[in-house]
Amino acid sequence: MFMVTNTKMVEAALNAGATGVLAAHNYRHPEALRKAVRKLHDKKLRPFGVNLVLDFESEQFRGYLEVCKEERVDFIISSLGDPKMVVDACKPLGIKVFSDVINIQHATKAVERGVDALVAVTRDAGGHAGRLTAEELIYQLVSQFDVPVIAAGGVANHDEYKRMIALGASGVSVGTAFIATQECDVSDEYKQALINADKNDVLLTKRISGIPITVLKTPYITSIGERRSFLEKKLKRYKRLKHFMGNAMPIIGLERYKHHVVGPDYQKIFCAGPSVQHIHSVTSVADVVRRIVDEN
Ligand SMILES: Cc1cc2nc3c(=O)[nH]c(=O)nc-3n(C[C@H](O)[C@H](O)[C@H](O)COP(=O)(O)O)c2cc1C
Repeated sequence: MFMVTNTKMVEAALNAGATGVLAAHNYRHPEALRKAVRKLHDKKLRPFGVNLVLDFESEQFRGYLEVCKEERVDFIISSLGDPKMVVDACKPLGIKVFSDVINIQHATKAVERGVDALVAVTRDAGGHAGRLTAEELIYQLVSQFDVPVIAAGGVANHDEYKRMIALGASGVSVGTAFIATQECDVSDEYKQALINADKNDVLLTKRISGIPITVLKTPYITSIGERRSFLEKKLKRYKRLKHFMGNAMPIIGLERYKHHVVGPDYQKIFCAGPSVQHIHSVTSVADVVRRIVDEN
């Protein structure tokens, strides 16, 4: 999770019998990502992955990819784009590649490229949510493709976990529930806001990063509104710029989001999905894993 995941969380998840994923873009320099990967490898903690937001033009992205290859991370989750280059670069080295997908078209392309698993991002996910429900998306993916499907969105307790497995998912990918943990370094205000929130307090806004992202409704979020800015709308109308915006928006978005979260507004933007409804206290990563996986 951008601006959220750290090595402590991944370490705790691995010790609890789950796996974890470092977000490459949380490290300004690829060498900092290498340091984080080595920290976990030195503790003989495996398998864990790295999330790469695909941006083939950027030197930084190519640096992250090199680090993943050189350090032989166990798997990569690729987001927002065509995973071909990552698959071609990583699979020969034995590194598995999973692709975030939100619909069948995207999944078809990812499977054709040779990904090892699909991460089905549903409309209940925190962050850049999908559009389909788990029933719609997971059912379609499982019935159409031979690769494992991992359900992402809305899972923070055992009932939801069981529901995803019953739909055919091979596992679940969880974000929001791990933010309110002792190992997570976000502010106490952020954690408290998660505890106080209900699913009705979550809204999708394009105003932070340019692409829809789930945030808790705060007076600040209400004040900036939910729609694209005038300039973004204008740019989108022109064909060539539209193409550029389509490719660049996720990357610009990450930077803008970061600016908001670490800037003067940091206490006002709390990214989370509707699974906040199951968060009632700050607990440990291991407790969250147990709450989800164990029969109560
Ligand atoms: C604060 C936050 C940051 C996220 N950052 C990323 C990210 O950098 N890359 C990514 O692929 N997904 C990101 N996600 C989405 C998660 O990987 C996952 O799909 C989602 O959290 C699952 O839904 P849940 O929040 O209901 O558990 C983020 C989610 C949250 C809540």
